[in-house]
Amino acid sequence: MASIEDYKPGLAGVPAALSQVSHVDGLQGILEYRGIAIESLAQQSTFLETCFLLIWGYLPSLEELQDFEYEIRYHRRLKYRIRDMMKCFPESGHPMDALQSCAAALGLFYSRRALDDPEYIRAAVVRLLAKIPTMVAAFQMMRKGNDPIQPRDDLDYAANFLYMMNEREPDPRAAKIFDTCLILHAEHTMNASTFSARVTASTLTDPYGVVASAVGTLAGPLHGGANEEVIEMLDAIGSIDRVESYIDACIENKQKIMGFGHRVYKVKDPRAVILQGLAEQLFADYGDDRYYQIALAVEKAVEERLGGKGIYPNVDFYSGLVYRRLGIPSDLFTPVFAIARVGGWLAHWKEQLAENRIFRPTQIYTGEHACPYHSIQERKLTVGATSFAATNGKKL
Ligand code: CMC
Repeated sequence: MASIEDYKPGLAGVPAALSQVSHVDGLQGILEYRGIAIESLAQQSTFLETCFLLIWGYLPSLEELQDFEYEIRYHRRLKYRIRDMMKCFPESGHPMDALQSCAAALGLFYSRRALDDPEYIRAAVVRLLAKIPTMVAAFQMMRKGNDPIQPRDDLDYAANFLYMMNEREPDPRAAKIFDTCLILHAEHTMNASTFSARVTASTLTDPYGVVASAVGTLAGPLHGGANEEVIEMLDAIGSIDRVESYIDACIENKQKIMGFGHRVYKVKDPRAVILQGLAEQLFADYGDDRYYQIALAVEKAVEERLGGKGIYPNVDFYSGLVYRRLGIPSDLFTPVFAIARVGGWLAHWKEQLAENRIFRPTQIYTGEHACPYHSIQERKLTVGATSFAATNGKKL
């Protein structure tokens, strides 16, 4: 039987799977997908090629890549019933909730669970990678009261998403930068949403349920939402001369500085290094951004004060700046993260199926034993139905 000494809150440091999908070395700042450095992929690959690599474990031949891209291109459209369902969503709802509902709804249309059939697996991979961006962009259009923009078959993956969201074809350089951002967010070992995906996968449910559960997990502010808060922080700071006093006040009040620190990385996150380069490229091409100058001053101030504790920029520090400059509204930052992470979730889904055992951890029971059952008349100490609401269910 497990004892209290075995308990690790948040399963910190507990291996939950054997995986060949990705690797992180937090002290040296190394991230590899299938053994390939993230820097090489960011420079030389595309998002869809990276997804192929993550999911099938090797870099595709030209023909395999072209087939994969072709299939995804022609599965981008949503069924009209899904669009009709989305019309009923409240405009004020969070786009992550809309995305989770839509991902789960795909299971209604493609519910056959032939998990041992490679064709079924490939079709599910293609559908999810193809349709998730269309769902995010459609909700963005619909909440503004507009019809969704149909995907354009002549545009590649990243350019098509930006087109569906902004109603205009993006500059190819901006689309390339966005594609690189998707590569950087595609996978990151056993984080909360990936763990969630693997737990759901282990029950042998359909892949749409797997992705929907992962989207739900990514939605929380402790996981997917920090880049939105970085922009709010830069907004609150307002100008370079206020940076030092703002950071000092955060440290004094034991308030976390958004976009800094990481459970694994104790040096600057390699993704942050690449994203900073992309931000510089964007601002050089499309004009300066005063937020970037403030961000540089924040990085310097935090490094001077907290660098000794291993607190450096993480992936979220510069990604918000890049997305903002690409015209993506801040509450779509996490859905964009989800678009990218579908690649990693599907890789883990497939890996989990290959050697599946249903997740069934244990617990340390800390409650009481052998308690008497009191009849309703005897329950003097327990709150009754009327006072339950008033006390939020707590015992009086
Ligand atoms: N600002 C100031 N101090 C910090 C920060 C920060 N951002 N992050 C950690 N610390 C300090 C913390 O106060 C603690 O100090 P002390 O030992 O004196 O009490 C020490 O560093 C360890 O912090 P922790 O919270 O125990 O570290 P953790 O590994 O549990 O948390 C974290 C990692 C990412 C949750 C945390 O650094 C944080 O909340 N950062 C801000 C939010 C953020 O940027 N989140 C995005 C994470 S990256 C996303 C991804 O990879 O998927």
